[in-house]
Amino acid sequence: MSDRKQFYVTTPIYYVNERPHLGHAYTTVAADAFARYWRKVLGDENVFFLTGTDEHGAKVAAAAEKAGRAPQQFTDEVAAQYVETWQLLNISYDTFFRTTDPRHRKVVQDLLQKIYDAGLIYKGTYKGTYCIGCEKYLSPEEIVDGHCVLHPTTQLVEQEEENYFFKLSELAPRVLDALERGEYRVIPEGRRAEIVGKMQSGIEDISISRQGVTWGIPVPWDESHTTYVWVDALINYYSATQFEDSLNRFWPADLHIMAKDILWFHALIWEALLMAAGLPLPETVLAHGFFTVDGQKMSKSIGNVIDPVQMVEEYGADSFRYLLLTAFAFGNDGDLSLARFREKYNADLANGIGNLVSRVANLAEKAELEGSAGSMPQAFSPDVASAMESFKPDEALRAIWEIVAELDRSIHDEEPWKLRGEELREALSRYIVKLGEVAVNVGPFMPALSQAIEAVFFSGPIRKPDPLFLRK
Ligand code: MSP
Repeated sequence: MSDRKQFYVTTPIYYVNERPHLGHAYTTVAADAFARYWRKVLGDENVFFLTGTDEHGAKVAAAAEKAGRAPQQFTDEVAAQYVETWQLLNISYDTFFRTTDPRHRKVVQDLLQKIYDAGLIYKGTYKGTYCIGCEKYLSPEEIVDGHCVLHPTTQLVEQEEENYFFKLSELAPRVLDALERGEYRVIPEGRRAEIVGKMQSGIEDISISRQGVTWGIPVPWDESHTTYVWVDALINYYSATQFEDSLNRFWPADLHIMAKDILWFHALIWEALLMAAGLPLPETVLAHGFFTVDGQKMSKSIGNVIDPVQMVEEYGADSFRYLLLTAFAFGNDGDLSLARFREKYNADLANGIGNLVSRVANLAEKAELEGSAGSMPQAFSPDVASAMESFKPDEALRAIWEIVAELDRSIHDEEPWKLRGEELREALSRYIVKLGEVAVNVGPFMPALSQAIEAVFFSGPIRKPDPLFLRK
């Protein structure tokens, strides 16, 4: 068991150039499960869960123009779609952060000024190939046949402009040293090794301002430049703790979650900026894998984009959260398919826990059993706790579904419908204890299911409820 007293978890802040998609939902659902887990262990007031939107930069400005909107109006609209989607998905964030929040501008400017005053920023000229999809200059290995490997349909731009540079080359060895001393950590191990290798291969200074992009936060000592969108965005994690005194204590973050595509920014550049500004480093940077849909990259042109809102309409928030997190091991790359979602929904939810709840409730109703209010177990099972504390939500869910399977087997073997009187009551009480275990453990993942089990079995006379998961 950990000796944590508080827990601060973040998702990336997502670009508002498009509506929230399944990739954003995946990361956010995982972060929500960790937040809910720790709230139960540490108390609500000791957890801070941050998500939000990344609203500046060339990519967002271009999307606004394409939509025929002023950038602020456009970002207001898309940010609202994120808020709405997270509500539908039952995401329990504490703060929804927007980088266009005027309070953020001040935090960014103060932090940059500090780094500038420390002599770690200088003026130079940048010449390179810029990918607006990535919002960064590409290195030669990131360009294949004249296209960005991640954004093959995006036109690359040869750019040369005056920029301010951050002395990343000077900071990188100190960051590597901090990583090796365990001052912060990067997981899983394979990704850490990649990052360390890259850090050792020689790091160049990075440009941290733009002259050609007006949609951004002005550089405090030279307002003809705006802050590079990635620097502006990373600082959100710190900024969110600075708006209210009561939140100060959460800094530094305990867990930054993102996919491997943006690990470099989170595992080196972020720590270098913090060090340069004299701020403490986060505890854990966790990169999960990337998924494909039916074996292909999810993309509008292929037509395999899965809309999280539609998925919630189809399956309900709880089920969708379950399907996402059990699709493949968190941390690895994986593949999703609508066909497998349906199979799994029917097997694990409709015919699995849903059926189990109905059967036990039905027998208990006939036996006139009273559920005793307040007797629901409150602590996580050791294997669920250990999976969650080693950041393996899929393993935690597997452990919970083992309890379900075990209970299913007991009922199958004991044939309680043939029992009567005290024997029946004894068997049912054992089943209900197991269902209570499922309810508490599943809470971080499927909050509505957890509450439904509690309502049926732990609050007064037991009645068979309507099916929790209709077969599809
Ligand atoms: N705005 C930056 C992040 C700044 S954080 C200081 C950004 N935004 S993004 O909208 O492109 O979101 C990227 C993140 O979305 C990934 O790191 C991951 O969390 C999630 N995913 C997007 N597509 C995904 C998959 N296909 N698979 C897994 N996660 C995916 O980058």
